[in-house]
Amino acid sequence: MKTSHLLRILMIAISGFLFIQCTSDLEIPDPIAGPAGADGRDGVDGTDGTASCVTCHSNTTREPIFASFMTSSHASEDGAFARGGSANCAQCHGDKGYLDYIETGMVDTAGYSGVEPMNCATCHDQHSTFDFENDGPDYALRNTDAVTLVIDDATVIDFEGSSNNCITCHQPRNSYEIPSGTADYEITSKRFGPHHGPQATMLEGVMGANIAGTEAYPGVGSAAHRTGSSCVSCHMGESTDTSQGLHSWVPTDAACVTCHPNGAPDEIAGFSEDMATLQALLEANSMFDADGYYVPGTYSAKLAQAAWNYRTLLEDNSKGIHNPGYTRALLKNSIEALQE
Ligand code: HEC
Ligand code: HEC
Ligand code: HEC
Ligand code: HEC
Ligand code: HEC
Ligand code: HEC
Repeated sequence: MKTSHLLRILMIAISGFLFIQCTSDLEIPDPIAGPAGADGRDGVDGTDGTASCVTCHSNTTREPIFASFMTSSHASEDGAFARGGSANCAQCHGDKGYLDYIETGMVDTAGYSGVEPMNCATCHDQHSTFDFENDGPDYALRNTDAVTLVIDDATVIDFEGSSNNCITCHQPRNSYEIPSGTADYEITSKRFGPHHGPQATMLEGVMGANIAGTEAYPGVGSAAHRTGSSCVSCHMGESTDTSQGLHSWVPTDAACVTCHPNGAPDEIAGFSEDMATLQALLEANSMFDADGYYVPGTYSAKLAQAAWNYRTLLEDNSKGIHNPGYTRALLKNSIEALQE
């Protein structure tokens, strides 16, 4: 131990001496300036590294987004967000259950406390890519993937892009089986029908009770509003008025004029009349109570189907616009079946 220690000190001392020897022997000559070289060619101006980011990440873009968002029922303090405390409702209401559902496909069966209305981070998280040119903009959305419906796990809807963000919430709940066939059907609850948001399924043209009739059902996914426009293009158009388009989700007229140059009608032809006719037919079969809810009980298949369709078109809340052809077929064929 001791000898090796001594040896090491000796080695360091010797090498230090050698080093000094070497450097002090070197004679560095004074530098002589050479002739000046020719000027290089000017490079091409590069694009500003953050230019692509600033289109979205600037106060000019954000202020109208915040302002429009505050007018939306998504952000509303008196909205239905508080339902998000219940495990049955949390998938779509409030800020907490949706995040769990997107991440794990489930919500906490114990429910949630301290639920808040939706905020920016309910829908947005972080970019999955920064190569927007090749991969397309992802708007840092949590979900742009296709969605498997909760009412029917054999049906997947894919709007290919940011409108997929809407489907998880704007689809019917899995509360009741859609009536079909010819056997009697038991309506078990006064709230029978698809829960409030069947917009994605209407746009796709699915999840109605397709009663046979003279009006043909259009092909699934074939509606002009499905193929040529989208949830986002109709409901989030550009606008200088923050009560429309942007993050208010109120459809802009400008979103319609490319295809409806003379302005678009605000309902499909005959919608209000046909809905009144169908309502009267259901009423004549004693299906409504005094408050307009369904009366639970056992009904013929066609009454149950017509009741499902009436509720679907009411809840869709677009007066048939989401899918004119499918709406017309559900409505006309339901009326026809009850008039036979
Ligand atoms: C097409 C619009 C768009 C473009 C372009 C864009 N972003 Fe985003 N980005 C968003 C949105 C929307 C969010 C989420 C909501 C928010 O924070 O505003 C976001 C979120 C982010 C976040 C996460 C924010 C946080 O608080 O964690 C980062 C980091 C980010 N962007 C960086 C960039 C960079 C860097 C670029 C340019 C290379 C860029 N973004 C371009 C729309 C965009
Ligand atoms: C996290 C679930 C969720 C997502 C995602 C979502 N919505 Fe909603 N949306 C709701 C709920 C819940 C309401 C009802 C809010 C209330 O009244 O409290 C609503 C309300 C609306 C309304 C207004 C209806 C009214 O009462 O004024 C429109 C329009 C709408 N959503 C469109 C969209 C579109 C388009 C998208 C996709 C870009 C989308 N939503 C994404 C859950 C969601
Ligand atoms: C699959 C998603 C989903 C689930 C689950 C869900 N909701 Fe909703 N709910 C919505 C959407 C979307 C809207 C807004 C639709 C619209 O404005 O057209 C809404 C709207 C509402 C409204 C406002 C209705 C109105 O007419 O203004 C109430 C109240 C409500 N939901 C209660 C509930 C309750 C209670 C539960 C649980 C038993 C529940 N929701 C579960 C998606 C859902
Ligand atoms: C209900 C879901 C939802 C919520 C909540 C939401 N966004 Fe968005 N946001 C979207 C969708 C969907 C798009 C993509 C629009 C498109 O494809 O053009 C988007 C786009 C954007 C963009 C890109 C620019 C544009 O308008 O196209 C920005 C920036 C942005 N959001 C910021 C925000 C901020 C800030 C908040 C909170 C004040 C917020 N978002 C809340 C769904 C949402
Ligand atoms: C062709 C354009 C168009 C498309 C595509 C579209 N919508 Fe609509 N939507 C409308 C119009 C127009 C209304 C009726 C607005 C009104 O009467 O105030 C409406 C109504 C609604 C309502 C009810 C609003 C309320 O005040 O209760 C919701 C919710 C909604 N749409 C969500 C969606 C979702 C989610 C998608 C995609 C699955 C979608 N919309 C696709 C144009 C469109
Ligand atoms: C991509 C083009 C396109 C856009 C954008 C578009 N529409 Fe249409 N719309 C059509 C076509 C094509 C039809 C006829 C085929 C059909 O009924 O599906 C139609 C039919 C309709 C009908 C049914 C008329 C009837 O009685 O049969 C209504 C109502 C309507 N559109 C309203 C709107 C509104 C409101 C908007 C904007 C929020 C809009 N459309 C945006 C192409 C478009």
